[in-house]
Amino acid sequence: MEKEKPIGVFDSGIGGLTVVKRIVSYLPREDIVYFGDTARVPYGSKSNDTVIEYGLQDAKFLMHKNIKALVVACNTVSSVALNSLKNNFDIPIIGMIEPGAKMASLETINKRIGVIGTRSTISNQAYSKKIKIIDPTIHVFERACPLFVPLAEEGWINHKATYEIAGEYLKEFIKIGVDTLVLGCTHYPILSEVIQNIVGKDVKLIDSGIAAAESVKEELDRYNLNSNKSSQGNQSFYVSDIPMKFKELAELFLGKSISEVQKIEIESLTR
Ligand code: DGL
Repeated sequence: MEKEKPIGVFDSGIGGLTVVKRIVSYLPREDIVYFGDTARVPYGSKSNDTVIEYGLQDAKFLMHKNIKALVVACNTVSSVALNSLKNNFDIPIIGMIEPGAKMASLETINKRIGVIGTRSTISNQAYSKKIKIIDPTIHVFERACPLFVPLAEEGWINHKATYEIAGEYLKEFIKIGVDTLVLGCTHYPILSEVIQNIVGKDVKLIDSGIAAAESVKEELDRYNLNSNKSSQGNQSFYVSDIPMKFKELAELFLGKSISEVQKIEIESLTR
């Protein structure tokens, strides 16, 4: 039955688990198959061509798991490869950019939105282009924060080094007076406490994972693909490499422990 197939979710690594956490809370009965390309992370510093190639391979792996919808839980891939994915695979595909851009546009009052993300997401102006389509009168200020990914992976969610680096990255947003800040990378919600403390409580943080989870729900409704199960959904996890501290990190990103993670051979992605 089409409805009882799992939802596929992938990211360059572990960050997409923050999106899985949101999908599970919105759609608790859905089964999820997650793939994290932990052998080739980070994607955020790679060229668009490489990110597109990797994104297509990651999606192909999940298609073999017989998924009914695909969530691109990586802002970097969503920024550059969403059209290629949609052209190649004939199931509903949900990226991170449009839902996050919509949510931020609805939230801002002073029409000044800040966006933080990887170098790739920011240099492609993924969010600002989308926000400008939604409302051309909104001013968007973007900044790459590449050190946030290793800080999140180190679990330094309340460390003084994180405060110092966040202060450096975010001070211009305070000066500019944004009232909304998009966390345009799936790692960043892990650091949201520090980020909120730096920019102040009046700035609304947009977790694009929440926005994307809402879009997944809308897409399943639209195509009548909601699971009819009465029990909780299952999650299975695949990675291309098992990094040190993986289980600990998975708990931090997902908010619960993972019992089993299966490692796949990277060559199987390129076949
Ligand atoms: N998860 C990626 C994103 O949301 C960031 C990590 C990376 O650079 O691969 O853009």
